[in-house]
Amino acid sequence: MPEPLLDVRAIDVYYGDFQALFGVSLCVDAGEVVAVIGANGAGKSTLLKSIAGLMAPRHGNILFDGAPIGAAPAFEVVARGVALVPEGRRLFPSLTVEENLKIGGQSRRPGPWTLERVYELFPVLAERRHLPSTSLSGGQQQMAAIGRALMSNPQLLLCDEISLGLAPIIVRDIYARLPAIVAEGLSLIIVEQDIAQALKASSQVYCLQEGRIALHGSARELTRERISAAYFGV
Ligand SMILES: Nc1ncnc2c1ncn2[C@@H]1O[C@H](COP(=O)(O)OP(=O)(O)OP(=O)(O)O)[C@@H](O)[C@H]1O
Ligand SMILES: [Mg+2]
Repeated sequence: MPEPLLDVRAIDVYYGDFQALFGVSLCVDAGEVVAVIGANGAGKSTLLKSIAGLMAPRHGNILFDGAPIGAAPAFEVVARGVALVPEGRRLFPSLTVEENLKIGGQSRRPGPWTLERVYELFPVLAERRHLPSTSLSGGQQQMAAIGRALMSNPQLLLCDEISLGLAPIIVRDIYARLPAIVAEGLSLIIVEQDIAQALKASSQVYCLQEGRIALHGSARELTRERISAAYFGV
């Protein structure tokens, strides 16, 4: 068995005295798409922020490509090949689309993703490259946030609720681009509240409930009923 690309081992994560994650474990293989689902406040963003080096687990380990990254600062985790598409997109409002993308490329690793490749993936961004990021629609902002993360040439892309607040047709459009990203050899973790979308896009599904993994299995084997039960804790 090859080692997983990402191996999260029983992490406990706190905000001050408040414990947000309890012994959470999760594995991602190279080239795999893993979905993390759960209700509001379940700890999904905390898990992604921990993997991205924005929060340090108090207990447990995070191994990436065989090396521990749990205590590494975010810039070092990016340099190792992990990029986060944060919840709420967080583009720089005073910068143009292209300037936002270039910021993602500041700590570029070698790899396939360039401005040109990002524009190929999301042609609408090329049309709007010199406009302020605030002029983009919600879906276009999401594309820019994904593009910015790709510009660092990650091996693992962490996507936090990329469909949040977007119309279904736009969500479909964005999800339709993910296979092209995986085809470049990337692995993905997608945090998603839409169970059907998560099952469709991933091979493994983890359900978080109140900071704990309540259910884990392959997307083919899990039923929506079992996931709903883990999701809502019924
Ligand atoms: N900065 C913070 N300080 C204190 N507690 C926090 C902070 N951020 C999140 N929490 C708490 O940690 C828990 C997990 O939050 P988290 O944002 O990871 O959940 P989530 O699953 O991403 O939720 P959502 O679907 O709303 O984005 C929640 O109880 C939340 O209130
Ligand atoms: Mg969240």
